[in-house]
Amino acid sequence: MGINTLGTQIDWQHWMERWDDQQSYHIPMREERFQIMLNCVAKVCPADCIVLDLACGPGSISQRLLSKLPQSQAIAADYDPVLLKLGKETQGDAKGRLHWLKIDLNQADWVVQIQQTLAKLGRSHLDAVLSSTALHWLTTPRLIEVYREIAQLIRPGGVFLNADHMSFPPALPTFRQLAQQSREQQSQQSVNGVKGETFSQWWSNIEAQWLTDDPSLQSLFDEHHNNYAVRDRSYGKALASLHIAALADAGFTEVDTLWQRFDNRVLLAVRGL
Ligand SMILES: C[S@@+](CC[C@H](N)C(=O)[O-])C[C@H]1O[C@@H](n2cnc3c(N)ncnc32)[C@H](O)[C@@H]1O
Repeated sequence: MGINTLGTQIDWQHWMERWDDQQSYHIPMREERFQIMLNCVAKVCPADCIVLDLACGPGSISQRLLSKLPQSQAIAADYDPVLLKLGKETQGDAKGRLHWLKIDLNQADWVVQIQQTLAKLGRSHLDAVLSSTALHWLTTPRLIEVYREIAQLIRPGGVFLNADHMSFPPALPTFRQLAQQSREQQSQQSVNGVKGETFSQWWSNIEAQWLTDDPSLQSLFDEHHNNYAVRDRSYGKALASLHIAALADAGFTEVDTLWQRFDNRVLLAVRGL
């Protein structure tokens, strides 16, 4: 907990746990997905690997990586000032192993920001890039470019893992309906008659509570709302086949689905030697 200028306290850990709970409400297999990704890193990367948690939010992947692989380091990068604040307050720098970075994936200079961070750490390339529930925020043309940018950052033989919903093609209407039905069933789920906190409820609740505790945080929420206002929502449902083709085109030699539940997938892409 941190005491602010008003003498009130924000319970950062509480909000971090509520973040993970609401994400798991929307994606019930979220922890299983994380374990699949981390097991892959443990298997194919060196013990002292350096991993980018891309569009990290408050750093749920970084937290689990650093705990599972005690010699690893993580770069946690995102553009949301509220989620970065929450991540930094709960996890700090993990004794020098966790490096927070504010980047905007819609600006090509994010690559240079990562390269500069790597250089400060005495590294030239990443061993792995992990991302969850995030890249559907990008337009499809930008997603394709970002895949090429990710490929530049990973060493030959390194890996990219992306966990997200990736659509079945229109030619498979039954598959699409079943995936949709599974999502609807999920949103009806409740524990002891109580439905979980949704993503939008979490955002309303955190804003109300943090600004009561510390009005000086207003600018973080202003920036957050501005990001939402300019987001192009006409994209975000790229076909799984498009993701796979774009990654192959970007220079990944092995690309396929490693884990799947309906249209919820973990894609693994191995950087060519
Ligand atoms: C649903 S959250 C997932 C966060 C985290 N990966 C997790 O699984 O808990 C989506 C994340 O994508 C980030 N994001 C969206 N567009 C972005 C952009 N252009 N640049 C950087 N981060 C972005 C958001 O700020 C948010 O943190």
